Amino acid sequence: MQPLGKLRLGVNIDHVATVRNARGSAYPDPLRAAEIAEAAGASGITAHLREDRRHISDADIDALMAGLKLPLNLEMAATDEMQKIALRHKPHAICLVPENRQERTTEGGLDVAVDDNRLAQYIAPLREAGCRVSMFIGHDPRQIQASARIGAAVVELHTGAYCDLHAEGRFEERDAELAALREGAALAHSLGLEVHAGHGLTYETVKPIAAIPEIMELNIGHFLISEAIFRGLGPAIEEMRRLMDEARA
Ligand code: PXP
Repeated sequence: MQPLGKLRLGVNIDHVATVRNARGSAYPDPLRAAEIAEAAGASGITAHLREDRRHISDADIDALMAGLKLPLNLEMAATDEMQKIALRHKPHAICLVPENRQERTTEGGLDVAVDDNRLAQYIAPLREAGCRVSMFIGHDPRQIQASARIGAAVVELHTGAYCDLHAEGRFEERDAELAALREGAALAHSLGLEVHAGHGLTYETVKPIAAIPEIMELNIGHFLISEAIFRGLGPAIEEMRRLMDEARA
């Protein structure tokens, strides 16, 4: 299969806010990071407004909605509070993620198969408001089928396990995980879903994911903000963009 089009890069700016919040200062400013990301070739900006507001704040979402030229992908848990915030702002895209207060980051995918009735009702007003709604899920076919059934436009496949297995040198298991992600992407596309992927991606792990032809968008944050410490945010993003293009060529 030929790739479906140019792969988009959504830059997740959460950890710019993490650094700011570590000192309670006004800097670094996530909106400024978003502007640099745009100049470096990002196609969109992703921000996760967590229930505990540990990084991105409500004021950041206000500022991004007011000042951003790129489309905003708002990641959030499927709670009443977040639904109200999303309906007030009507961002271009919403990605629903599971949230657990104890976790360091989003650890697994949503259980759409079990929570399908509630999630179908939950996303209906978001879809009516014109937001492109995405489910952050594992590659389990049941989760992909349930996402299609409830009317999601997009699934974002969780690449965290694939990246962890790579980092741990467990290459056979990593390759099995990659094969399952490929199958998941093909199944999702065959059901009419747009396919995205993300979590934990680095320069070392991005190319096999970027090469999956059905995938239209990658969302990458922690590694890019980390790499920005050494080479600057613009060059860090440009290198990721270059690797994605190389994988797709
Ligand atoms: N996609 C989703 C749905 C996420 O929750 C996250 C982490 O916030 C990412 C992508 C980006 O992951 P990372 O920061 O590890 O690149």
